[in-house]
Amino acid sequence: MNESVRFDRAVDFYDQTRGFPPGEEQPIAALICRTGGFNEASRVLEIGVGTGRIGLPVARRVGAYFGVDLSASMMLRLKAKQQGETIYVGQADAAWLPFPARSFDGVVAVHVFHLIPAWRQVLDEVRRVLRPGAPLVHCWTRDDQTFRKLWEAWRAVVPPEQQADAGVQWKRNPDFLLDEGWQAAGDEQTHAYSVERAPSELLEALRCRVWSSTWRLTDDELERGAVAMQAAIAADYPNPDAPLPMRYTLMARAYLPPAEEPPGPPF
Ligand SMILES: C[S@@+](CC[C@H](N)C(=O)[O-])C[C@H]1O[C@@H](n2cnc3c(N)ncnc32)[C@H](O)[C@@H]1O
Repeated sequence: MNESVRFDRAVDFYDQTRGFPPGEEQPIAALICRTGGFNEASRVLEIGVGTGRIGLPVARRVGAYFGVDLSASMMLRLKAKQQGETIYVGQADAAWLPFPARSFDGVVAVHVFHLIPAWRQVLDEVRRVLRPGAPLVHCWTRDDQTFRKLWEAWRAVVPPEQQADAGVQWKRNPDFLLDEGWQAAGDEQTHAYSVERAPSELLEALRCRVWSSTWRLTDDELERGAVAMQAAIAADYPNPDAPLPMRYTLMARAYLPPAEEPPGPPF
């Protein structure tokens, strides 16, 4: 896996399957701005801006919002939803940002580092385009493990190498920036919200390859995982179509880049 996972194939179902429940977008945008110290004068860049799930509401709160993504079709969807927000998007790889050094008062990254094998190069680029003292705001989501046993059934039969993320492993989200020498600027900030999902919906979403982790599986691998999950559903859920409450928590934390290496002694 040397290539980033681009989301062209998700355009028609991304917002429906990843969108926030009504009323949650604005508090999440406020959380991101608070975490990054952004205000109505800030110039902010999002890497992997997608359909603007984060970008459009945050753009309403800052001076100018810029987004890059490998997927032109995801950004076309963003443009179709734009309603006067000051947001500029362009097709680019986050590992080769088309901006001069020190261009931004903040960079936002939400659910993207796990998709990019060259994520260390992305961090170098983020560091380059941040003005001195400006943060990277990194966000990821935790769920309450309502369907933990179903996922265990899936993981037991899907080849482990096919379960690995292309970039940063998802479970390293809270730590990898610290491990790379970035400094936390404040604690993790959180916003919790609830959704309802039936076990049968989860199975259907898997079979439809809604999650990017299923895109590289062969049809056989996918079906083996789905059958294992179906058996786990049959064992634990007498009414698999009944929605269950799930709690998600969006995590946000600001980080400052590692200090520049001091120049070596003159020869
Ligand atoms: C899971 S989506 C997240 C979109 C948005 N940040 C959000 O939270 O809704 C990840 C996006 O990153 C894009 N992406 C993946 N690798 C990328 C890269 N190397 N450079 C820029 N965008 C990339 C994908 O095409 C996709 O649109």
